[in-house]
Amino acid sequence: MEWETEAARSAARVLIIDDDPAVLELVRRALERRGIPCECQSDAHKALAELRHRDYAVVLTDIRMPGISGIDIYRRVRHSCPHTYFIAITGVADTEVAIEALKLGFFDYLLKPLNLDEVVLSVERAFEERRLKLELRAYQEELEAKVLRRTEELIDRSRQLRQLLLNTIQTLVFTLEAKDKFTEGHSRRVSDIAAYLAERLGLSQTAVRRVELAGLLHDIGKVGIRDQILSLPRRLTKDEMEHVRTHPQVGARILGPVSEFQDLIPAVLCHHERYDGSGYPQGLRGEAIPLYARIVAVADAYEAMTSRRPYREALPPDVALAQLKNGTRSSFDPQVVEVLERWQGEVEERIRHVQSPA
Ligand SMILES: [Fe+2]
Ligand SMILES: [Fe+2]
Repeated sequence: MEWETEAARSAARVLIIDDDPAVLELVRRALERRGIPCECQSDAHKALAELRHRDYAVVLTDIRMPGISGIDIYRRVRHSCPHTYFIAITGVADTEVAIEALKLGFFDYLLKPLNLDEVVLSVERAFEERRLKLELRAYQEELEAKVLRRTEELIDRSRQLRQLLLNTIQTLVFTLEAKDKFTEGHSRRVSDIAAYLAERLGLSQTAVRRVELAGLLHDIGKVGIRDQILSLPRRLTKDEMEHVRTHPQVGARILGPVSEFQDLIPAVLCHHERYDGSGYPQGLRGEAIPLYARIVAVADAYEAMTSRRPYREALPPDVALAQLKNGTRSSFDPQVVEVLERWQGEVEERIRHVQSPA
């Protein structure tokens, strides 16, 4: 801290300004007898220059001097010498000026003829007050630095914990998908598509990142679905379908206790809701379906259609889009489908790097 060095350097230095050399000499002797080193200046202009180039702990200045007054000196340097204490020396007839000096920010005033004991006492008080003020400031700065360091550590720790949680969830999703080569990479691709659509829909960067995560987690509830059903090489029976259809609620329950994912639960719970109310689990309709869920639903359907399944080949992107569009007025949010249509090339480009099922 620079000021600490400055303060230390100027700790013992006193400047006495008075156009009367006799006063200078008297005060200098009195202070030096107490071991306080002094510099004297009888020319007020030179004193001003001196104050601009060097630091002093205390300045004793006569108020009435030819050319420039002690108050003027104070006014000109007070901002550049915030740690210097000024003491005014005035004649008895000038008590009003002395009071003005105090109002301006002088530490004290001494009346002429000077009582040298009072001079020493006043300078020593200024030193003591300055020392306490600097110590307090150092303490405050140290405290602020400590609080800042601790806050940064906590932010860092919380970032690490969030990353750890995310890694764990990702591992869980990948483990789940690894059971079935047909859905391997599905959630990653849905996540990528959904994030891209969200971005193109004009959502904020924070919202885009949340949609991305919602895409990654949307099928997490399949962890509760019997393995053999997930990997059946045929279309599911009505009962099997009913069982699979519980995965949005299972997913919402899994995420329930994790505070970090609270805003994603509606997206996970509602990603099979359909715009016309034909979806599940609640049969929500239109904009009653949360926006993140409407985006994930389009990404999910598009990804599923363009991927191979045990019972059918992958649909070409254009055919998949045409099917989504045919259902636009009924099944999916038309605004989201429109964005997908407009940016389909980019979407394809974006998901190509995520490993597709063999
Ligand atoms: Fe799903
Ligand atoms: Fe899905």
